Amino acid sequence: MSARILSCSISLASRPVFSSVIKSKLVSFSSSALIKARSFVSSTPALHGHVHKPKPGEEINVTFITKDGEQIPVQVAEGDNLLDIAQANNLDMEGACGGSCACSTCHVIVDPDFYEKLEEPDDDENDMLDLAFGLTETSRLGCQIIMKKEYDGIRIALPAMTRNLQVSDFDRR
Ligand code: FES
Repeated sequence: MSARILSCSISLASRPVFSSVIKSKLVSFSSSALIKARSFVSSTPALHGHVHKPKPGEEINVTFITKDGEQIPVQVAEGDNLLDIAQANNLDMEGACGGSCACSTCHVIVDPDFYEKLEEPDDDENDMLDLAFGLTETSRLGCQIIMKKEYDGIRIALPAMTRNLQVSDFDRR
């Protein structure tokens, strides 16, 4: 019950004609309504770049190789994807579609020693990879690579450029 309704009810309740009816309704209604009005629900927000902390002894080692050739080792948990891992470590991976396999800005080049260990890309990923700038034999989309223990030691190169479709790409020339 809002404060306005409550004050209105109280002022009516002070008049003799309404007093007995309103007072009984007010008492039965007010406590449950006030409790409901004050209930609060919260949930954990889903953030880009959110990753899990690996449990001791279960760390998976990943080395990112930046455009400048710098090697950045990180330890990650099973189940996180490379896009989230890269963003959580402030690496330059855009992820324009938020990991929904609808762009190619999370394009990565996988160490050939590990490429065959990865799950096969599905048709959606292959379609997006066709749009990636500088496609290679071991190119994948970072958001589609979910880390597993078997990938421990994997090396991932970030390409020099990525390409995202713009509205202007569809202009007729
Ligand atoms: S973030 Fe768009 S396909 Fe990976």
